[in-house]
Amino acid sequence: MGPAIGSESSYRVTTTLREAVTDTPAQTEALGEQLGGRLRQGDLVLLQGELGAGKTTFVRGVARGCGSGAQVTSPSFQLVRVYPGRLQLAHVDLYRLESSAELRDLGLDELLDQGAVVVEWGERLGSADAALISIEHLGHDRRRLRTERDLDR
Ligand SMILES: Nc1ncnc2c1ncn2[C@@H]1O[C@H](COP(=O)(O)OP(=O)(O)OP(=O)(O)O)[C@@H](O)[C@H]1O
Ligand SMILES: [Mg+2]
Repeated sequence: MGPAIGSESSYRVTTTLREAVTDTPAQTEALGEQLGGRLRQGDLVLLQGELGAGKTTFVRGVARGCGSGAQVTSPSFQLVRVYPGRLQLAHVDLYRLESSAELRDLGLDELLDQGAVVVEWGERLGSADAALISIEHLGHDRRRLRTERDLDR
């Protein structure tokens, strides 16, 4: 059985996902892939959720949906990784962000000119001009994904 996806008719669908509960990493990835397939150049998606919530797992699907065959892992010591594809996806992880200077060096505007950008620990960006998706640990392998703010376009 696939993940339960909220009714799409009741809201402005850009990220496809309103609220869903997944029971496996593959289901979370599949939701990411759906989003990736809808992203366009200039889209910024922030992911919020505790350690191990499934942000990177979700991004793995987003990259596939963007047409990238790249291996998606945690950017650990890099702030950003770029995956070329039908649509370039920049994968940012702000977990180790230490200063606002680092944020400026990221070249976010340029990355958005080149494609879409997805940001783990995205709430640290403080950007209102972005979609915000939260991933919540519900115990064991169960996660709740919710679109807190949709893409504005
Ligand atoms: N339903 C699920 N959705 C996503 N991941 C799941 C699910 N069930 C189990 N997992 C597991 O939880 C872990 C999630 O790790 P992941 O690296 O994606 O989290 P993260 O939010 O990126 O963590 P971090 O804050 O360290 O970057 C993986 O080991 C994954 O296999
Ligand atoms: Mg991660």
